[in-house]
This record gives sequence, C-alpha cells and structure tokens, in this order.
Amino acid sequence: MGRSTPFYACQSCGAQSRQFFGRCPGCGSWNSLVEQSSPAADGRRRRATPAPPVDGAAPRGRRSEPIHSVGERPLRRLATGFPELDRVLGGGLVPGSLVLVGGDPGIGKSTLLLQSARALADSCSVLYVSAEESAQQVKLRWRRLGPEQGAEPASEQDGLQLLAETDLELVLQELEALRPAVAIIDSIQALHDAELSSAPGSVSQVRDCAAALQRLAKRQDTALLLVGHVTKEGMLAGPKVLEHLVDAVLTFEGDRFASHRLLRAVKNRFGPTHELGVFEMRDRGLAEVTNPSELFLGGEGPCAGTATIVACEGTRPLLVDLQALVSTTSYASPRRTATGIGINRLHQILAVLEKHLGLPLSRFDCYLAVAGGLDVEEPAADLGVAAAVVASYRDLTLPAGTVLVGELGLGGQIRPVGQLELRLQEAARLGFTRAVVPRSSGLAPVAAALGLELLEAAGVAEALVAALGVDPAAD
Ligand code: TYD
Ligand code: MG
Repeated sequence: MGRSTPFYACQSCGAQSRQFFGRCPGCGSWNSLVEQSSPAADGRRRRATPAPPVDGAAPRGRRSEPIHSVGERPLRRLATGFPELDRVLGGGLVPGSLVLVGGDPGIGKSTLLLQSARALADSCSVLYVSAEESAQQVKLRWRRLGPEQGAEPASEQDGLQLLAETDLELVLQELEALRPAVAIIDSIQALHDAELSSAPGSVSQVRDCAAALQRLAKRQDTALLLVGHVTKEGMLAGPKVLEHLVDAVLTFEGDRFASHRLLRAVKNRFGPTHELGVFEMRDRGLAEVTNPSELFLGGEGPCAGTATIVACEGTRPLLVDLQALVSTTSYASPRRTATGIGINRLHQILAVLEKHLGLPLSRFDCYLAVAGGLDVEEPAADLGVAAAVVASYRDLTLPAGTVLVGELGLGGQIRPVGQLELRLQEAARLGFTRAVVPRSSGLAPVAAALGLELLEAAGVAEALVAALGVDPAAD
C-alpha cells in the first residue's frame, strides 16, 4: 500500500481495509471505521531495532537454543502495598511485566495506582506518568492518600517521580533516563504519538503507544502499569489490540453509588485469572475489604424471597444474598429484570421451575437482584435463584443459616459444581448451618466436621423441598 493511499481502521478491533464499510468486516461493529494515514506509519521507524540477545547465549547467526539450556530466573515479585492487588496479580507485580488496568472513568484507577506507587516507592524506584491530570492535581491527591497531615512530618519520597506529559516520545525519553523499576501510565488513551496523524485514544495511537512502551520496558526490566478507560460499549478501547499485547488485564469495577470496588484479573500470564480483590473507597483513598462475604450478605436476616449462595471468584468463595420479587403481572407479557445475573439465565430458571414444579410463573412478573452490586456469572448460583423465586412466589422464608449451591439443568436436575468444599468451609466460617448441594458430592464427612447439615439433592423439586422444608409445588 502506498504512503498516499488512505485506508480505514476499525476503532474496536483494529482490522484494516482499503475500502470504507459502515460495518466492520472484522468484528461486526457499526460506524467503527476511521480513515487513517498509511498503515506503514504504524510499523516503521525508530523502535524497530531488534532487542540484543539475552545473555548472549546463542552463537552468532543462531537465535534459538535448546530449551533445557535456557537460563531460569526465579520470578521476583514486587509488593504493591495492597495484598488484595498482589493476590489478583498472582503474588505481586512481576518486574518487566505489562499490566493493563481497565475500568469506567471515576471508578478509582488513578487512586489505586497512586496508592500502590506510594507503597512501591518505599522499596524501589517508581515513575508515575500522568497524562490526564496536572502535576499539581496528582500532588494534591498524593497528599490526600498519605498519612493525616500533622500525624508525621511530610516524608520525602524520592523514589516516586512524577511526570505530567502526554507526548509519547518524551515519556519514552524519561523512562530511558530514569530506568525505574515500575512505571505507571495514567492513561494509555491520553498519550499520543506525534508521528501518527490519528487522534489520541484511537486504536492506532493506543496500539502504537503501548507497543513502544512495552519494547522499552521489557528491555530495561521495568514493570509497566497502563490505565485504560472503558468505552461506552463497556470495552477497553482497542481491547483486542491491547489484550494480546499485555501480560495481565485487570478490571476495576463497581457501582459508582456504592463504596466498594472489585478488582479482577481477566487475563494473567503470571497467575490465576478470575481472582477477585475487594476494596472500599474511603475519603482517604482505597482500603482493602478483608472479609467481603459480609459485604454481599444483605444483613437484614432471613426474609421472604431471599436466598444465600456461595459464589466462587477464582479461589475465593463469597457468600452472596439473592433477592427475588414475584408478583402478578399486569402486562401482556410479564416483566423480568435481573441485576447481577444474566437475564437469559433467569428466563431459563423460570422455565425450568414452570415445567418441573408446575408453577404458573409466566403469569407473574419476576425481579431478581444480587446484593452488593456483584455480578454472579457462575451457573452454581442457579439453585439459589430458583429458591429465591419460589420463596417469593410462595411467600416463604428459608430457614436461617441455609446456603444453596448447584447448577440447574434444563431437565430439572441439579448438576455438580466446582470447589464445593471451599464453598462449604466459607459458609461454615460465617456461621451457616445448612447447605443444599448436588447429589453425590462426597462431602458428607467434610460437612460433618464443619458442623454443617448437608442436604444433597438430584433434582430441583427435591432440593427446594429440602431447602424450604415444605413442598413448593403442592397446592
Ligand atoms: P479516580 O481514581 O480519579 O478514578 P479514575 O482514575 O478511575 O477515573 O477516582 C475518582 C473518584 O474517587 C472520585 O469520584 C472521588 C473518589 N475518591 C474518594 O472517594 N476518596 C479519595 O480518597 C480519592 C482520592 C478519590
Ligand atoms: Mg484517573
């Protein structure tokens, strides 16, 4: 493609074409193609120099080596000052790694990273690049996040360097001059490469800036934390473009009206994914929530239409309250809304209950909500949803201290779920005494040792009779 030929790049998936399409042929999104200058502009220039061979191990002319002779270095980890963040990262920040922290604007990404920078700077050198806020603003926030004024003399943190800059070239120069152990770029969308004609935040800019930063950071073993905003559609800008480039993708989410925030690893080359960290936004920054189950239990005790499940987020079991409201519909087709659970799952569970318990739920509206704004994606929540719905429909209260765990098959069977033992332990730890679980769990001895009454069920009717103590299908 010649330099003068215009081409179009999708702002969602990065696909390129010579022709303009209203709908991207790559990912199918509408109106996402934007005219760019030559595609060669992306790949050419300065940073094309190959990295020097590591340890000089390979003889001249050969770049591969037998795998057994590859030197192994123990993976070091840097503590970020937040054990919750360390856990989500898989045990701390790996030097030389590239981590993308995504989330809605205003959720607390800058706060999280500035607090971590503060803690990291006690043991290593940190460069905080603020491309969105002025140095003054960051300083003010840094003060706010530190110890109370007057509590101790303002400590001189020489380990933490601040750069308010949006030009990629200058950021790269600073990184090269300082060679910090950790660099934080807040945010990648606000950086721009003057050599590209596209606007800051566009896919080619984001990809180019991230790739240039990554090359330099890997070369000098700097751990890079990139802040990425989530677009209106709920995706990290240029998601496909950045996600394969980085070593880990963390998402920071939460209800802006509630104070707690959830940090999740959706990709992690150095640790497990789906690990969950829970934080609370206070007036002096983020604080860790060490006992998050308490956050997701409604706290008002048993009431009609409430059921407690044990969700598992990564290796962390969480007790979560579900609430259902079932009421006679006044619409031609009944209303169904679900907060924190997929609406299709709710439809499916309602259909199973209608078919296998003979409940006329299609004549009722059904609202379902997960307490604490958590999103429960696991099918292990199905049985809890079914119990909450039936309890509300029958105006029944589940006996206190009951948890339910199980996936619901379309045939009304209760399917086994993973990590059941871990879930039972958490339930017992929080004082629950009865657990309704799938048949043949093999966990009777464990439950007995935990002081839990284990109610195993093969089908949904049996499970609900066990949970509620009455037959919900009987008139
Ligand atoms: P911020 O970190 O700027 O969000 P992001 O970088 O993800 O856009 O967080 C901004 C919000 O957090 C803002 O609404 C104010 C609130 N906040 C507190 O409640 N307490 C604090 O100590 C700080 C620094 C911010
Ligand atoms: Mg910010």
